[in-house]
Amino acid sequence: MLLYKDIIKEKNKDLRKKSELVNTPLSDEDLNTLKLMDEYLTNGYDDEFVKTHDIRPGVGIAAPQIDVLKRMFVIQAYDEKGYFHHYCVINPKIISHSEALTYLETGEGCLSVDREVKGLVFRPKRIKARCLLYDFEKKELEETVLSLNGYIAIVFQHEYDHLDGILFVDRIDKTNPFLIKENATPVAFK
Ligand code: NI
Repeated sequence: MLLYKDIIKEKNKDLRKKSELVNTPLSDEDLNTLKLMDEYLTNGYDDEFVKTHDIRPGVGIAAPQIDVLKRMFVIQAYDEKGYFHHYCVINPKIISHSEALTYLETGEGCLSVDREVKGLVFRPKRIKARCLLYDFEKKELEETVLSLNGYIAIVFQHEYDHLDGILFVDRIDKTNPFLIKENATPVAFK
């Protein structure tokens, strides 16, 4: 089981490395990595579990954050309409994105960034990503093109960045961290 202490933090240089493609079919080791990440997020939604364990809840976690430099991540997040998205993503590739931008008015957070960072992160509002999705119930890998928008598009791009060694803090404008870009509308949660 993964705990918060097992997640590497921003001072660790491995977080800045580019991750390698994952071989398919998935090895037992890669499957286990995916399972550990998925369980961590699931546990984060269990209030009792969080009270009694070293868990900081999150909506996404990428393999490099547990020092496995492979291109996979897991998302478990509710979008702005209250719909739950659960993706175990392998070898993603963003194939197109909108010119329109979006952002979170509260800024982004990251399990690997253990400090308060102020500033806005602007990302394309809509993306299309080709990837493999792993389904733990069916034990199947499926090739998919995901069309995502708004909050889930932000979460996806945040995790995707981890695979290239990029942290959200890198994307904040240092001289004007709260300047709202043209073309940008905030995510509106209900
Ligand atoms: Ni992160």
